[in-house]
Amino acid sequence: MYFPNDQAKAVGQIVASRHSCRAFLPAQVPAAQIRDIFTLAQQTPSWCNTQPWQVNFLSGSATAEFSRLLKVHTERDPAGNPDLNFPAHYPGEFGKRRKASGKALFEAVGLARDDLDGRTRQSALNYEFFGAPHVAIISVPKTLNDYALVDAGGYVSTLMLIATSFGLGTIAQASIARYSPVVRNYFTLDEEQRIVCAVSFGYADESNSANSFRTERSSIDDVAIGLPQ
Ligand SMILES: Cc1cc2nc3c(=O)[nH]c(=O)nc-3n(C[C@H](O)[C@H](O)[C@H](O)COP(=O)(O)O)c2cc1C
Repeated sequence: MYFPNDQAKAVGQIVASRHSCRAFLPAQVPAAQIRDIFTLAQQTPSWCNTQPWQVNFLSGSATAEFSRLLKVHTERDPAGNPDLNFPAHYPGEFGKRRKASGKALFEAVGLARDDLDGRTRQSALNYEFFGAPHVAIISVPKTLNDYALVDAGGYVSTLMLIATSFGLGTIAQASIARYSPVVRNYFTLDEEQRIVCAVSFGYADESNSANSFRTERSSIDDVAIGLPQ
């Protein structure tokens, strides 16, 4: 790849190096740095500049308390009650890509194909935020309809890239949105807020095998039609 200048190269490196972090160190990120990251993320473009995302933030002992609450609900009601519909099935290529990323994760953490208990335990780590000391819950108002969700997606991506450039690990977690009514209740959000996902962040535990694999991407020609050669 040819980068026309240093800025493009730096952005390219951030984009290429970001990956989902599934094991964090307990150390907290300095508050001023967190403020800077979220201040920059506010530059995300949105429909008519509505900036519809709302962020509810947890750190330290509040993160642990929220994790305990979610765990009670995961045991009581594994399917949960998400505001946004989770996919019912993954046809064709989508299923293949999903399977490949799951396989890469389970292999990295040493879980065999038939180790269903192990896989359940690995998935349950979502509700411990993979040990992250900080969690941002992203929601958007129902009234602004579907493009607010597009805006939230852009916000989540921008946020994760900025945090990567600050040397942090991040992961978006729709799993937390399974328990949307619980999240709303915990943060006393009104019914108008739709829970999109969490973004957990902190310092990556690079020694943990859950962080040792990278997912692959399809060729650009599989998804973009008519690109110049
Ligand atoms: C909106 C969204 C929700 C996600 N939810 C989860 C989740 O609940 N648990 C999880 O382990 N990974 C979750 N992920 C991470 C994806 O699995 C990951 O981004 C994808 O496999 C590509 O891998 P990469 O992020 O390492 O490049 C989510 C990603 C996005 C964008």
